[in-house]
Order: sequence, then C-alpha cells, then structure tokens
Amino acid sequence: MAANIAFILGAGPNIGQHVAKKFAANGYKVAVSSRSGGSSTSDDVLSIKADFTDPQTVVSAFKQVRDTWGDPNVVIYNAAGVHFAPPTDVFSIPSQAFEQDLSINVSSLYTALQETVAGWKNLSSPSKVFIFTGNALNTSGAIAPLFTLGVGKSAAAHLIDAAVKSYGPQGFKFYYADERNADGSPVGNSIDGRAHAETYFQLAEDLEQRTWDYTFVKLKGFTKF
Ligand SMILES: NC(=O)c1ccc[n+]([C@@H]2O[C@H](COP(=O)([O-])OP(=O)(O)OC[C@H]3O[C@@H](n4cnc5c(N)ncnc54)[C@H](OP(=O)(O)O)[C@@H]3O)[C@@H](O)[C@H]2O)c1
Repeated sequence: MAANIAFILGAGPNIGQHVAKKFAANGYKVAVSSRSGGSSTSDDVLSIKADFTDPQTVVSAFKQVRDTWGDPNVVIYNAAGVHFAPPTDVFSIPSQAFEQDLSINVSSLYTALQETVAGWKNLSSPSKVFIFTGNALNTSGAIAPLFTLGVGKSAAAHLIDAAVKSYGPQGFKFYYADERNADGSPVGNSIDGRAHAETYFQLAEDLEQRTWDYTFVKLKGFTKF
C-alpha cells in the first residue's frame, strides 16, 4: 500500500507546524509550503517555497510532492489573505489587492482541489481527505474590515460543499474546518494550532465523511452552532 502523505498549503508556526508534527509522529510523510518555505528537507519532510497569490504555483508545488513521494492522500489548505478595509469605505480597497486576496483564498484553493482529485483518481490509499481551514465568516455575515477574507471563506465553503456532492460518492472527503469558542463565537487570535492538529488527524483517519462544515471546539470536538 502507498505511504500516507500529507501536504499542507500555507504552513506557518501555528496550525501548520502543529499539524505537520502530528501527522509526522503518526508515520506520514509531510510536505509543507509557504512563501518562506524551501529550506529544510529530510526523508520524511519536504519544505516547498510557494506563493499562492499565483494559482500556477499550486500546480508546481503539487508536482514537487508527486515527484518526491507520489500524490498526497491528505491535503490541507491553510493559507489565507486579507487586506484590512476601512469599515466605512470597504470598496476603497484597490481592485488589485482584492484580486490578490481572491487568488489566495479562492483561485489557488480551486487549483488545489483540482490537483487533489486528479491525483486521488489513481491513488489506492483508503483515506483521502481535503481540509480547508475556515472561520465563521462564511455564516456570520460581513465583518467590514475583513471583507476580502469573508468573500474568500464564503466561496471556499461553497467549493467544499460542491466537492462533497460531486466526489463524495467516490469516497473522497472534504471539510471546511472552523474552530470556535465554546459559546460559538469566533476564536479569532486565540486560534489553537494543537486543537487543529488533533481535529485534522481525526478527520484524516476516519473513513467516513462527517458533516463537511465542521465547526469544532478545543478539547470538545465537533459542535453544531
Ligand atoms: N477559526 C477562526 O476563527 C480563525 C482564526 C484565525 C485564523 N483562522 C484561519 O487559520 C488559517 C491560518 O492559521 P495560522 O496563522 O494559525 O496558520 P500557520 O500555519 O501558523 O500560518 C499560515 C501560513 O500561511 C502562509 N501563507 C500566507 N499567505 C501565503 C501565500 N500567499 N502563499 C503561501 N503561503 C502563504 C504564511 O507563511 P509565509 O508568510 O511564510 O508565506 C503563514 O505562516 C487561515 O486560513 C485563517 O483564515 C481561523
């Protein structure tokens, strides 16, 4: 059987690092990518330099993983972009900045989904899971300063829903994962990398698709709000 391979797109010191450690500790080969990546590589860890403001870099990053180990059976899209907007004039954001955030939050996610399902069609691994790191903006309504992020998270949720409906029958699993406080409010800057690592590993090991819009609370797990 093929080795378990996890690929994290947009991996930094918090979620990315904790998720990478969790999967590596459980025998996965782990590829991480970010703008500052590309430095350290070992037999089981591959670091890739990539900037997802250009969706084409997603294609080349997947190629690097594929050429090194093969197609990843676990793909985590964790990168996000936001230009903070003045609350009373959100459309003063230059269209170039809007497009840049849209590329990271939506177009590169779309390309990552395309690359993922193309690889999965010929992959024998029993568990194939794609996890997008979301937040509450897909359901909360607009929070003006964060609107480019909200546009992205809303579109991402739609993409994940479409993926489940289209590819679920083939056993492919997709999640929009969203950590919340126990009262359902957004965790914001208290986002917990370890809680993501635990949750993402559980989702990766479960052969069944759970609720795709996966709101979860640290130390408690899935919670419907
Ligand atoms: N549930 C919530 O309420 C909530 C709260 C906060 C955050 N979040 C979500 O959590 C995710 C980030 O979490 P985190 O900061 O803890 O993760 P992290 O793994 O610590 O950092 C994410 C990494 O993504 C990389 N990245 C950013 N833009 C990129 C680009 N254009 N191309 C390639 N890589 C890029 C950055 O590294 P480089 O700078 O080296 O590129 C960054 O370090 C985002 O999706 C965010 O929306 C959710």
